[in-house]
Amino acid sequence: MRAAVVCGLGGSLPPRIVTNDELAQRLDTSDDWIRTRTGIGRRHVVDPGTTTSHLAAEAGLRALKSSGHHTVDLVVLATTTPDRTCPGTAPTVAARMGLTDVPAYDVSAVCSGFVYALQAGAGAIAAGFAERVMVIGAESFSTILAPDDRTTSVIFGDGAGAVILRAGEPDELGALQHFDLGSDGSMADLITIRGGGAEQRSSGSPARPEDSYFRMDGKSVFFAAVRRMAESSRAVLAKTGWGIEDVDRLVAHQANIRIIHAVAGQLGLPPERALMNIERVGNTSAASIPLALADGFACGSLRAGDRVLLTAFGGGATWGSASLVWPALSSELTLPIENATPLLTAH
Ligand code: COA
Repeated sequence: MRAAVVCGLGGSLPPRIVTNDELAQRLDTSDDWIRTRTGIGRRHVVDPGTTTSHLAAEAGLRALKSSGHHTVDLVVLATTTPDRTCPGTAPTVAARMGLTDVPAYDVSAVCSGFVYALQAGAGAIAAGFAERVMVIGAESFSTILAPDDRTTSVIFGDGAGAVILRAGEPDELGALQHFDLGSDGSMADLITIRGGGAEQRSSGSPARPEDSYFRMDGKSVFFAAVRRMAESSRAVLAKTGWGIEDVDRLVAHQANIRIIHAVAGQLGLPPERALMNIERVGNTSAASIPLALADGFACGSLRAGDRVLLTAFGGGATWGSASLVWPALSSELTLPIENATPLLTAH
């Protein structure tokens, strides 16, 4: 049976860093509140003119370089912040990388988007449609936050992460093992941008300015995220035939440090096995898991042969988990990604 094997990894963060203290200068919040309630110390934010496709292309090229390949047969982009409502952003990303004749499409599953996109990429390989797939999670989330909303402004950040998948064998290092995905559309209002879509346009009412921004019911999301990530993790572990003691690394969506600790707690996993980079980058939504993988690999927390459990929860509501055995990747990525020299200089 063909399996999808991870053979490349890359990340990209915009250079501008916004600290908690900087946010506290314009919002009724504090470094202490943000750190205690979320575990976040700072986040990267795009400068005017930079969009999701720029970050995605940079991460994608880094991943391609680390894989040693020059091209892919398919690009799948997970994002909540496409450059435009129409068309999709993936073809723009592919074109920015010089790939103007490959299939490329967007996946919209908010913070679960990367796991959904990974499953799509793995499925394309398993079906024999593609030999190599680039899967990217990318966000310029700061562009959809209401500037005066302290409950969302302190949490989200911008960035992108990408992996390259190639066709291989299920028992190889790097092979994706199993997936669990789910959704519950009755929770659509918990995480939403109300305006700008068909629902608002067909209502005949003009869009209210406040409806163009991202809104979240943080408390309800918190409890649903812990429950669904724990359940989904258990489901994928059962499919893989792993017990919780077999998991070397939990790479959970970096939503909130308390959410990650609660998921680890519910699973009975020692918290030190959970990989974290939320302090430095905040919640980067669809980019969060591949950025955590890139950081984990760069700092030596992910080693070839590690059994890795990925899990995420996001708007929709959506959730998903995946299991894989970590590959032996090239050491191209040993530099921390925030200090890396850009591969794409001109926007
Ligand atoms: N700074 C200071 N105070 C804040 C604040 C901020 N940025 N945001 C909210 N508060 C206040 C609230 O108004 C409330 O005040 P009150 O007690 O006087 O009413 C108090 O802090 C507690 O608010 P609450 O909403 O109960 O806090 P919380 O512990 O649930 O934390 C979130 C809020 C948003 C951090 C948390 O719910 C969360 O992380 N949710 C998940 C978000 C997420 O990751 N979503 C992405 C998709 S998975």
